[in-house]
Amino acid sequence: GTVPVIAVDGPSGVGKGTLCRRLAEHLDFHLLDSGSLYRLTALAALRGGVDLGDAAGLAAIAAVLDASFAPGADDLVIRLAGTDVTRELRAETTGNAASIVAAVPQVRAALLQRQRDFRRPPGLIADGRDMGTTVFPDAPLKIYLVASPAERARRRHKQLSEKGVGATLAALEREIAERDARDAGRTASPLRPAGDAIVIDTDALDIEAVFHRVLGLVRERL
Ligand code: C5P
Repeated sequence: GTVPVIAVDGPSGVGKGTLCRRLAEHLDFHLLDSGSLYRLTALAALRGGVDLGDAAGLAAIAAVLDASFAPGADDLVIRLAGTDVTRELRAETTGNAASIVAAVPQVRAALLQRQRDFRRPPGLIADGRDMGTTVFPDAPLKIYLVASPAERARRRHKQLSEKGVGATLAALEREIAERDARDAGRTASPLRPAGDAIVIDTDALDIEAVFHRVLGLVRERL
């Protein structure tokens, strides 16, 4: 049969990354952090002096992206042309640049097959914005996480301060709102739940509760 994929979509800061890492570990599935491909494209553009308004230039970068993903202590170690860029990749500035790059249809097209190549036995957890709608429309389980912008800003703030990165709550909330608007408002694969996605509101649920809820669905569907 086909290799199972669990598509996990939703806006930034909703807890997809943590949930997906736990699911992949628990099920011993591969993990696709699709956002990192857009982040890498943005980073490569900034480093190569390619303007974020230059669609053709960005698509050319995405098409030949020399990226590698290796398991690290508690997160993936991501390299761009051999250099460890894990830290820069996680920065809010890179996330914001990524959302600009991600609105370019040619960039999305250039990254499509690369994402599908992550689908290998025994299965894949796919983390992103359009996993259920565009990249893996045949996924047997699609999860769409939601949470209020205030709650997402609080979580992101906690995550960043644990890493020693300073940021104010107000600035994070503003950036999250801007990024949401850009991701949901674009024409190419806008952020939205697939028709057959199961929407989970995580405002009142901790990661543990969400994880067990999804595991229950995995047992039903896969
Ligand atoms: O998930 P992450 O914050 O790493 O994603 C960074 C940006 O990449 C998002 O704000 C979004 O604009 C874009 N993205 C996307 N489609 C995906 C994953 C990420 O457009 N599947």
